[in-house]
Amino acid sequence: MSPRSVIASSCCSVVVVTFTEHRSSAVPMRFQTKAIHVGQETDPQTGAVVPPIHVTSTFVQPGAGDWGEFDYSRSGNPTRKALECTLAALESGCGALAYSSGMAAIHGAMMLLEAGDTVLAGTDIYGGTYRLLHKVLNHAGINVKLVPTGDLAALEQAFTAETKLLWLESPGNPLLSIADIRGCADVAHRHGALVGVDSTFATPVLTRPLELGADIVMHSATKYLGGHSDLLGGALVVDDEELYDRLYFIQNATGAVMGPFESFLCSRGLKTLQLRVLEQCRTAQRLAEWLDDHPAVDRVYYPGLPNHPGHEVAARQMDGGFGAMLSFELKGSYDDAKRVAESTRLFRLAVSLGAVESLIEPPAAMSHASYDREDRLAHGIQDGLIRLSVGLEAFEDLRDDLDAVLPRG
Ligand SMILES: Cc1ncc(COP(=O)(O)O)c(C=O)c1O
Repeated sequence: MSPRSVIASSCCSVVVVTFTEHRSSAVPMRFQTKAIHVGQETDPQTGAVVPPIHVTSTFVQPGAGDWGEFDYSRSGNPTRKALECTLAALESGCGALAYSSGMAAIHGAMMLLEAGDTVLAGTDIYGGTYRLLHKVLNHAGINVKLVPTGDLAALEQAFTAETKLLWLESPGNPLLSIADIRGCADVAHRHGALVGVDSTFATPVLTRPLELGADIVMHSATKYLGGHSDLLGGALVVDDEELYDRLYFIQNATGAVMGPFESFLCSRGLKTLQLRVLEQCRTAQRLAEWLDDHPAVDRVYYPGLPNHPGHEVAARQMDGGFGAMLSFELKGSYDDAKRVAESTRLFRLAVSLGAVESLIEPPAAMSHASYDREDRLAHGIQDGLIRLSVGLEAFEDLRDDLDAVLPRG
């Protein structure tokens, strides 16, 4: 089956046709309605409101070489396609691809590059992305340069004729730096490079990078999209059919697809994404303000605080909130930070983020341990930094949990 036939297959034509209709319709579907209905049509065979989970590796064909809509689950699976349809609609794309993890999705995007190409990436990126770029893709002859994507002048200077991809996170992990996505896309496109945005922290509820000029939006679906710490997955969404075809070809050739159970769980998670994210943002904003006033806290990194250097851009670029991730540094020593991260009762000491339960971790020792220490410190990720993923618990309980373990003046 050709990639083109996949994009034109009945499930994806729901994305292309339905979404095109949304664009031209006088009464467009709003985000929350799309999250529930696009790609999640009633099962025509049984009338089931929730589409069934298609647990099959292969599909019987009408004839030899006469291909049906699906042929083999690496190439396409109805449960995965249903999720991809919803994701494409939520991110304003023409098509989405669901992967076995966020890293598999990033790797899929990086495979667009060839030996000799350079990727520019933000200085504030997930440790696993840093590791992929510096310790895996370098072996394939792909060069990487880190740039502060919040500084458009510095970004402009960093491009060379070999730069083929700009990869950024906004908000960044773990320092919550903000990149002006439209500004970055303008710079990158002037230099003939593609722009990929890891939008895991923002979710399509808060930011839709394709609407701001990005070429690829990426998610670790493990986080907010799934939302319940019970699946591992990733996604790429694009609004260009040719780019979709190239990414589809790479995914089918390399095989890191999301399984049907995970696809079902992720589709279920998307139905409450907006409700969860907006509430988590409200709690995070209150916690950030409270921490900012706390005598034991030296610095809070949260784009919703007016003292954050990216606050103005974030206010323009993010709808409805500034995200539910925040980081902070204590006035005390690294040992104080370690003790705080290990002592909370509700905030659980774990990597990952974006789910209903709140998590705490020191990035230097956990999520960003794969950075070279010198490079990490040079990019402002201090040993004593503490990162919070704010869940859906009551603000007062989370505040009290932190207050009980923060050093007294
Ligand atoms: C911003 C960001 N991007 C990508 C990833 C990788 O996703 P996964 O763990 O699903 O492979 C993570 C994981 O923590 C992340 O935080």
